[in-house]
Amino acid sequence: MSKDVAELSLEDARAELAQLAAKLNRANDAYHTEDAPEISDAEYDSLKRRNAAIEAAFPELKRDDSPSDQIGAPVNEAFGKITHAVRMMSLSNAFNDQDVLDFDASIRRYLGLDDQSALAYTAEPKIDGLSLSIRYEGGKLIYAATRGDGSVGEDVTANARTIDDIPTELTDAPDVLEVRGEVYMAHEDFEALNARQVEKGAKTFANPRNAAAGSLRQLDPKITAERPLRYFAYAWGEVSEPLADTQTGALERLKSLGFSTNPVTRTCATPQDALDHYSEIEQRRATLGYDIDGVVYKVDDLALQARLGFRSTTPRWAIAHKFPAELAWTRLEAIDIQVGRTGALSPVARLQPVTVGGVVVSNATLHNQDYIEGRDNTGAAIREGKDIRVGDWVQVYRAGDVIPKVADVDLSKRPADAEPYQFPTHCPECGSEAIREPGDAIHRCTGGLICPAQAVEKLKHFVARGAFDIEGLGAKQVEMFYNDDQLPVREPSEIFTLAARDAQNLSKLANRDGWGTTSASNLFQAIEDRRTIGLAQLIFSLGIRHVGDTSAKLLARHFGTWEAFADAMDAAAAEPAMQSEGANKADLAASPAWQDLLGVDGVGAVMANSVVTTMAQDRERASIDRLISELTVEAEAAPTTDGSPVAGKTVVFTGTLERMTRAEAKARAEALGAKVSGSVSAKTDIVVAGPGAGSKAKKAQELGIEMMDEDSWLDLIGG
Ligand code: IVH
Repeated sequence: MSKDVAELSLEDARAELAQLAAKLNRANDAYHTEDAPEISDAEYDSLKRRNAAIEAAFPELKRDDSPSDQIGAPVNEAFGKITHAVRMMSLSNAFNDQDVLDFDASIRRYLGLDDQSALAYTAEPKIDGLSLSIRYEGGKLIYAATRGDGSVGEDVTANARTIDDIPTELTDAPDVLEVRGEVYMAHEDFEALNARQVEKGAKTFANPRNAAAGSLRQLDPKITAERPLRYFAYAWGEVSEPLADTQTGALERLKSLGFSTNPVTRTCATPQDALDHYSEIEQRRATLGYDIDGVVYKVDDLALQARLGFRSTTPRWAIAHKFPAELAWTRLEAIDIQVGRTGALSPVARLQPVTVGGVVVSNATLHNQDYIEGRDNTGAAIREGKDIRVGDWVQVYRAGDVIPKVADVDLSKRPADAEPYQFPTHCPECGSEAIREPGDAIHRCTGGLICPAQAVEKLKHFVARGAFDIEGLGAKQVEMFYNDDQLPVREPSEIFTLAARDAQNLSKLANRDGWGTTSASNLFQAIEDRRTIGLAQLIFSLGIRHVGDTSAKLLARHFGTWEAFADAMDAAAAEPAMQSEGANKADLAASPAWQDLLGVDGVGAVMANSVVTTMAQDRERASIDRLISELTVEAEAAPTTDGSPVAGKTVVFTGTLERMTRAEAKARAEALGAKVSGSVSAKTDIVVAGPGAGSKAKKAQELGIEMMDEDSWLDLIGG
């Protein structure tokens, strides 16, 4: 616990303010620039409150870079910048009813109104997304910008134009109108997006807010267009004529101009009405279909708003009444271990069911051994170092409203006989040894295919969308066939022998519970349809650790055919130099097979090792070979590149790229038929060098290879 502010010495206070500034800066960066928050909103708010309390007690210590004066984070340089005509403000917070009554009292004092005077407020949900300012001139959308640091935001116009809720033309609008509101993603769209990300083997988003931010702040508007973003308008910046006399009227006007405004907004005659509406919104929170994190109250009368004006970063006429963090205490009944496709042992807390923010929670993730023992992945203490034991009272919360986690342990309620949790040394599913390699936080089962849990998970991955995508063969059916004695499917090849085996069996699949002639023959047909498969899809389907669909594509493009791929992996396995931990550049130079593999841009040592070792493992390889003998594997077709100026050329990107990410640059070059390589050699045709390009640029010069900067490259490939 930190000291009471009143007990702090001047030196303590100075030191703590410095620490808080550093922590809050880091949190801001993670949240705004990286779209990957590192601390919860509740923790963030509590740091900010502590900072404000110390500043109030020691005003002379307030720092020039005080977090209280900052909104958001600086803009990402990859986007153009837009200076807001009117600063985009933040909101001050209320955390309980008393804070709201104090807010009302301070407004009355400021305006010289007594307790009896009428003073209406609007109360509307505080949408948990990201704010966007859209400027219209003469009814035409001119630009759209994120909040950024409040003064300067990122130009996301092209992306905003892809959002259905945002009109690109307005009729009967003021000549200049800046509409402000929140871009967000609805729960159903968020879940569908994450499901698609899983299929693609791409990273999933932690919560709808991150998904919305990641989708809006895309350098490629095509990607934004594929993401179902929505927009609520709730405020405005510069306007050439007033929208209305009241906040309520202004929202109606925005609605009549074609914007979505939040239907749960209400005009309240008294602060008590506003608090009642808060309770109602809180109750409806779980069923709204999108995330909100509080209720915003605004003085309804716009003339009074104008009199009240602004503090440095917040309006005096509005406040955000935040919902309490969704936390609940419950008993940890057991810790179970789940085994994944690649053998990872994941501990799961089985909880006495408890309601957290309207949702019943009975499981929570415990991540790994260190987490249970009270350490993070750097070895630093979490939960003040308290470990988690079966029988403990634990406090759970929903992180970003998705996966429940354990926040705290109540040691005073720990049963006397509770034992520290012993992480299993063996796989609970197959009994094989579970090993934690140095530098890895995760224990892994070494059983490979003999482990039923791994085998089933691998099969599920194999039939999933993005992989073989066999219709009628989902996770449920895979489990059924895996445990079936008459018609077992224990490895992928057996899927393709299913129809033939069924034909020989006396008891037919068509006669089983839940199956009929049509569904059985549909399944056999769906399997038959997949007997011919592309190389990239096949490699992805094998479920090799570290090989997602993008890496699979890279490998497939590079090697072209299954035979070439398998031969290359065998050759690398026969040159084991690179597999040892101490392998170095000299080993690599002596090993052409590894050189070739690691020369594929995007293939690093970890992935390469994983593929080579998997393909060299006897049992695994035999299973893969049995699968291949059932299939016709199509060679990876070169992308259609008619008229491409770089088709067939080998390109190397080096140094910092400023207008696109490395991954984007590579994807675009490959789409145009170029081969992207990670190292410069005599075979290289073009080196695209950004600032900070080092040895690769030098080598290219020595070899007399064509070099260009990022702009020239973009000109060459047509923007
Ligand atoms: S009004 C000048 N209304 O909350 C006041 N903001 O924590 C402008 N937000 O930056 C903000 N829902 O991104 C307002 N109904 C709502 C809101 C809302 C969400 C966001 C907005 C703002 C942040 C402040």
